[in-house]
Amino acid sequence: MLKRILITCANAGLGKECAKQMAMQSGIEKIYLGCRNPQKAIAAQQELQQITGKDIFETLLIDVSDQGSVRAAVQSLQEPIDGLVMNAGGTGGTQFHEKTADGVTQIFAVNLLGHSTLTYELLAAKKLTQVALYAGSEAARGVEPMGMKRPALKTSSVDEFTSIANGVFFGKTKDATVPYGPIKYMAALWMSSLARQHPEIRFVTMSPGGTTGTEGFNTLSPIKQYFMKGMMQIMLLLGKVHKVEVGAKRFVDGLVNDSFKSGVFYASRSGLTGPVMEQSQLFADLSNETFQDNAREAIEGFIN
Ligand SMILES: NC(=O)c1ccc[n+]([C@@H]2O[C@H](COP(=O)([O-])OP(=O)(O)OC[C@H]3O[C@@H](n4cnc5c(N)ncnc54)[C@H](OP(=O)(O)O)[C@@H]3O)[C@@H](O)[C@H]2O)c1
Repeated sequence: MLKRILITCANAGLGKECAKQMAMQSGIEKIYLGCRNPQKAIAAQQELQQITGKDIFETLLIDVSDQGSVRAAVQSLQEPIDGLVMNAGGTGGTQFHEKTADGVTQIFAVNLLGHSTLTYELLAAKKLTQVALYAGSEAARGVEPMGMKRPALKTSSVDEFTSIANGVFFGKTKDATVPYGPIKYMAALWMSSLARQHPEIRFVTMSPGGTTGTEGFNTLSPIKQYFMKGMMQIMLLLGKVHKVEVGAKRFVDGLVNDSFKSGVFYASRSGLTGPVMEQSQLFADLSNETFQDNAREAIEGFIN
């Protein structure tokens, strides 16, 4: 049973909805809302308290794109957490391709490097006891209707994964949806590698599916935003994507239901909504342990 959990990026979208739904689970005593903006964190805490009638939300200041901030957040945790939801992510802001001080792109830092540091620090401090869930995406296998291609890796070597992290793999693209899928793909491999290293923790990669009602596309270029948001609304009307309650429920299921296995990447069976399935049944490369370890090694090369 999970008593204490931490959700990164919990002041909006799927993270906030996940916090709300987890508060209704029996046995939950504390939910840390990991946010980078203190005002937004307090506003979310108050809103969640009011909606759920539960005084169990605590804010935790964390900017997942900054390893120093991640370490400080882990140090400030007074007690171990049973569950971690690595939800921060998305398209990485308007400067998604700019490099951070750690040498990775902003989009990589927020989606993957910060969460890696967070997981390693929690494990080292013995502050994570049961389950780590990563917010994956169907973009990892490509979403053709939205113009996202399946990542085309040539070698899946450490060097190739390093080039995804530092952006070299993508050349001079100005479109954040180009690196997004390959980063989510790499994250799923990293989680599978960790699952083999730490059998005592359940590492689940779960895509929320195509989810409307979040702020996910807000920092794309105006034209891309118009296209993506318009497309999502049409797809919602056609039943091809779902609302935030449904997307967040997938995270809750992955957290509380042990039948979601460690090391597995779950996402929609087809399209962006409906039942989930193990993605390695669709793409065998996800089960390749060498690829998994190469992805992990590449990430660890940027941890300072
Ligand atoms: N929505 C979808 O269709 C979909 C589909 C598949 C996967 N996902 C994944 O699900 C996760 C949540 O997506 P979403 O659509 O709910 O996102 P969202 O609505 O865009 O959520 C934005 C949140 O991310 C926070 N954030 C951004 N950068 C941060 C940082 N460096 N440190 C801490 N917090 C940061 C924002 O904080 P501020 O308010 O301070 O900016 C805000 O709380 C992401 O990992 C996304 O890739 C989403």
